[in-house]
Amino acid sequence: MHTLLDKLLSSFARADLLQGPTPIQRAERLEQLLGLKAQGIGLFLKRDDHMLIGGGGNKLRKLEFHIGAAQQVGVDTVITVGGLQSNHARLTAAVCARLGIACELILTRSVPKTDVDYERNGNVLLDQLFGAHLQVLAGGSDSVATAEIRAAQLRDSGRKVLVIPTGGSTPLGSLGYARCAAEIAQQEAELGLTFNQVVVPNGSAGTHAGLAAGFRLLNRGTSIVKSYSVLSDRDTSAARTLQLTRDALTLLGSSAIVQPEEIVIDGSQLGDGYGLPTQAMQDAVRLMARAEGLLIDPVYSGKAFAGLLADLGQGRFGSGDNVLFVMTGGTPGLYAYRDTFQP
Ligand SMILES: Cc1ncc(COP(=O)(O)O)c(C=O)c1O
Repeated sequence: MHTLLDKLLSSFARADLLQGPTPIQRAERLEQLLGLKAQGIGLFLKRDDHMLIGGGGNKLRKLEFHIGAAQQVGVDTVITVGGLQSNHARLTAAVCARLGIACELILTRSVPKTDVDYERNGNVLLDQLFGAHLQVLAGGSDSVATAEIRAAQLRDSGRKVLVIPTGGSTPLGSLGYARCAAEIAQQEAELGLTFNQVVVPNGSAGTHAGLAAGFRLLNRGTSIVKSYSVLSDRDTSAARTLQLTRDALTLLGSSAIVQPEEIVIDGSQLGDGYGLPTQAMQDAVRLMARAEGLLIDPVYSGKAFAGLLADLGQGRFGSGDNVLFVMTGGTPGLYAYRDTFQP
């Protein structure tokens, strides 16, 4: 199948970090336990946590486009920013290690958590193993400004530097998830089914925006994608996601119009804020682990899965519907939240 979307994406440089599609598997035990089987509702998992570099996760799809562009201009140093337990930072460090590029991470204490697991374990441990240089800033600091100052210093000394903004969620990075929409459509054809809803967490919005742009160009409509905001309140997330969807479409050379009501975001799972555990998240993480033997993370996919469970419980789907939950990775975060799961 060669679509307009494939053609538009093929004009962008891409580093092949995934080496093929990620699997889609049916969550049969969950279907049974949640009574979905009896209602004729299918629940499927897109295993974007199952990738070949750095423990995997959604950020690798965005990095394919960032690093592809960087390689074209001979970048030798990548600087990126994120929270202390950023999965994007960890995967950037892993990709740079694989490609022999120097990596500097500017991490912000954006979550009020200071226990030793949060400070030293999880993604922080892995960033260091991958050989990245870490600079940690106080909460509320302007990490992007710090990154630009550091980039200027390095450029003065002759280095070729790329600064990747938070979560890799630029229009270019979002193309990773436009490409994922094409991958899902191909897998639908192979499985002989259609997904009515594709569910993702929403942090810096690139995952939702990329999927929305991609499905739009596949003539499916953007509202097939539903996200649960985990970083900001619903309205802030919705504005950011709408803008990024429009910018991704423009970057692809499309004049498709997306209206605010076509971006479907649920703000009910944020709880007390970014990175702060909720009871529903803990229940969702345990349910996924015990029913399917699979791991989801406490900050992103745990809250999104909690939202999907709430929707399923409220009867938002009916007979013949198929739901695809995108497992976006981030499981190293579990080790940073030991006190939540093992108080
Ligand atoms: C594991 C995981 N899932 C989901 C997300 C959210 O993706 P986005 O920032 O594209 O909204 C992130 C972002 O950091 C993440 O690390």
